[in-house]
Amino acid sequence: MKTKFGKSALAILSVLMVGLVLVAFTPDQQKPWEVPAKYKSMKNPLKATTANIATGKTLYNKFCKSCHGTKGKGDGPKAMNLDSKIRSLASADYKKQTDGEKYYKSFIGRDEMPNFTKKIPDKEDQWAIVNYMETFK
Ligand code: HEC
Repeated sequence: MKTKFGKSALAILSVLMVGLVLVAFTPDQQKPWEVPAKYKSMKNPLKATTANIATGKTLYNKFCKSCHGTKGKGDGPKAMNLDSKIRSLASADYKKQTDGEKYYKSFIGRDEMPNFTKKIPDKEDQWAIVNYMETFK
């Protein structure tokens, strides 16, 4: 009886340990991303149209798809080699952010999310990409 209890306690303990290790090493949460106030309150000046969404799609496929994936799920071929977890651009958590937060993250970036202000300097192009990303579901 005593050894039996000891064994199951050990089993439970190892399950807990494995769980803990998995939780600790599964980066399924983005670390908090502070967006400066002047960006946060920014409004998208480009009303979404079929034309600018098409422009956004072309640019997204050229510059963003390799990491973010065709449908924005964060499953592009380059994503596998990154340490940072990329949240789905189709998720409610992504969508509920302000225009300016989406803009800041997309073009200023941080760490493994590159800065795109030099590669995509045109404001209309930038907002066209933001508009295209809104279509992910
Ligand atoms: C080299 C890979 C890579 C490329 C290319 C890339 N991204 Fe990212 N992106 C990331 C990573 C990694 C993160 C998560 C960064 C973090 O949380 O620190 C991210 C995060 C984001 C976020 C924040 C999403 C959220 O959950 O709030 C947006 C928006 C974004 N990227 C837009 C873009 C756009 C637009 C492009 C193309 C112009 C692009 N990214 C190209 C790697 C990439």
